Amino acid sequence: MATTETVYEINDIPLDEYHISLNEALFHNANGYIGVRYNFEEGYPQEYNFVRSQYINGFYDFTPMKQAENLYGLVNEKQTMLNIADTQAIKLFIDNEPFSMFSGTVLSSRLWLDMDKGITVRKVVWRSPQGKELELTVTRMASFDQLSLFTIEYEVLPLNFSGEVLIESGHNGEVLNYVDPDDPRMACEPMQHLTPLMCEIKEGESYITSVTSRSGLEVCSCVKNILLQEHRQEFLINGYHAICQFETEAIQGEKIKLIKYAVFCDTIRYENAKKQAELEMAKAFAVPLVDLYKKQEEYLAAYWENCLIQIDGDPELNRATRYSLYQLIQAIGKDRYCNIAPKGLSGDGYEGHYFWDSEMYIQPFFTVTNPTLTRNLLENRYATLDLARENARILGHRRGALYPWRTIMGRECSGYFPSGSAQYHINGDIAYAVVAYYLATKDLAFMQEKGAEMLWETARLWMETGNFYEGKFHINDVTGPDEYTCIVNNNYYTNIVAQYNLRWAVKIYQLLKTSAGFDALKAKLDLKEEEMADFQKAADNMYLPYDEKLKINPQDDSFLQKRKWDLATIPKNKFPLLLHYHPLHLYRHQICKQADTIMAHFIMEDAQSEETMFNSFHYYEKITTHDSSLSYCIFSLMAARLGMADKAYAYYELTAKLDLTDRHGNTANGIHVANMGGNYLAVVYGFGGFRLKEQGISIAPILPGQWAGYCFKLSFEGSRIRVHVGKEQCVISLENGDAKKITVYGKEYLLKDMLFIDRPSLSADDK
Ligand code: BGC
Repeated sequence: MATTETVYEINDIPLDEYHISLNEALFHNANGYIGVRYNFEEGYPQEYNFVRSQYINGFYDFTPMKQAENLYGLVNEKQTMLNIADTQAIKLFIDNEPFSMFSGTVLSSRLWLDMDKGITVRKVVWRSPQGKELELTVTRMASFDQLSLFTIEYEVLPLNFSGEVLIESGHNGEVLNYVDPDDPRMACEPMQHLTPLMCEIKEGESYITSVTSRSGLEVCSCVKNILLQEHRQEFLINGYHAICQFETEAIQGEKIKLIKYAVFCDTIRYENAKKQAELEMAKAFAVPLVDLYKKQEEYLAAYWENCLIQIDGDPELNRATRYSLYQLIQAIGKDRYCNIAPKGLSGDGYEGHYFWDSEMYIQPFFTVTNPTLTRNLLENRYATLDLARENARILGHRRGALYPWRTIMGRECSGYFPSGSAQYHINGDIAYAVVAYYLATKDLAFMQEKGAEMLWETARLWMETGNFYEGKFHINDVTGPDEYTCIVNNNYYTNIVAQYNLRWAVKIYQLLKTSAGFDALKAKLDLKEEEMADFQKAADNMYLPYDEKLKINPQDDSFLQKRKWDLATIPKNKFPLLLHYHPLHLYRHQICKQADTIMAHFIMEDAQSEETMFNSFHYYEKITTHDSSLSYCIFSLMAARLGMADKAYAYYELTAKLDLTDRHGNTANGIHVANMGGNYLAVVYGFGGFRLKEQGISIAPILPGQWAGYCFKLSFEGSRIRVHVGKEQCVISLENGDAKKITVYGKEYLLKDMLFIDRPSLSADDK
């Protein structure tokens, strides 16, 4: 039996619209390929008007995006992740009485997500209006072992009756995307993206194939229902809606069990989606459900083995942190056709686009716990490098590549370029992730085949964007991470990631220069030795804004000239500000949506003195709204870095519980996956003081006063390391792989087996 720390549960399932849609996201099932929101199989009252949703990562349609003024190069078509065929419906009738949570009496109900088993379960004891009582148990799983597969195990236990039972299991190809015209974070154009082409029953399986309106992609879903009791079965087809009906006899005290298998296949991955769906269904069906569950558990056991964080003495936060890590493995794309959307596969927020969230918040977790998955994500960026080159040309750059700010298939999707396409730092973020992956794995083959090309092409773009002025390299008219300050000169974050990008482009050139295949690559890219000198010169002379008076790094050249706006004077109901104030009003104030310079201090901590970082922290803390969910975690880890453990803890708590408490009020549109990566960052990079640098790995753990201890895991160059931080000591063990050097509190050790290191005497904050 799972302990409560591995199970997230609610009792007495709330039935109001707000909670139902919130729980659709919180309890969704996903495996990186498919994602299915948690819908009640039997449906909702009509007035609830929910869109039942399931998605395929990377499966998209194009949507026209009309610009009011059609200036050159503005994006006029975006990609949208699609809601695909609904395979969730199961309706139950007992002597003609339909089961519904909204009729009769729910005597008890419980909904839980088991993070060891990888399933969501609903258990309900229900009395029908005519007094028939039953216990319903529904188990849902998106299989990690077979990515196309989603299963529902539906069990009915008649408690006080015997009689006629009718079960209708639906498979509906007539689906629409969810839209919200009032929220800029959602799609607003109601459009039919998927047109069903065929719906057929073949050997007891229903198949629906649909085609997208503009991208020309197809998806095929196949459903097979198995009722274990004796029954009569019939299929009905109504348009593109297939219904499988079972009639059976209920016997008091005897369970009725339906198993519903659904597989989804698309033509991005397979030539023939229908054929593949047939194969996938045969594969799924060949394995008994118990074995599918076993494989799910094994997959997760291996996952936890690599990444588990255990917090002693704080079960609630321990579970919240585990919940975050669980959602990360649900969200991450498992092949090169996709990446990680900010909402994972739990909702339509941001239309399934990929942002810098992947490289800067989520990959730092996978890179040091499961680097193969990071490699897939980088492969995805490499696969879209040509489109990034195309994007650079649209923006007027003759050489290099500019990755789109938001995208699915590689083309820019930003509707509003000041806080979209202008975020050139995405190039530096991707370069940063390529380097981090290399530092953690020393995977030279990847660097030679793909990584180096990405580094050089992104570096070239900085040379195209910036210019020398009075001996310094300036990058003008870009937007940094903070979306409340747009189109500025010399955004500190952007300049510092550009500097890193340029430096590493040169380093990798030197590293690969004599390797096989280098000349061919150089010729392919028309790469010149002189370019390296230019990169180096720009990096060495990068202009990094610094204010002598405040002794901080200003966010950009004009930031400190702007009017201040005391956050405390803004009414609570005006947050997030983006929904209540004109963008220009926000741009003219010293107000931040999220960590920007503070983020730069985290990733490039060696660029500034402790004093500057400390001053910056306090300066920006006062003016940051955290209207973006990407913010708390960075403040947490920088507070820890700067010796403010209590503050770090407070921000960490906000991070860990952000979705579970629906702090941003929009979890219903999808969980916040970058923040969940941030949860790992806050513990491991924050409290644990972990860093991955060219010189190697280091830790400098502090222990928040609220905890008795904690432990975390790291993978480095093929070795797995476990760190336990206790009140007195850190115990560092090599769980597998070769001995590794590790720096602990500034002193280097060789970790062969175990190290016991006393924690330095405690600072005032670390109590
Ligand atoms: C944030 C971006 C982020 C995006 C997707 C926005 O609110 O400002 O930094 O990439 O959400 O999570």
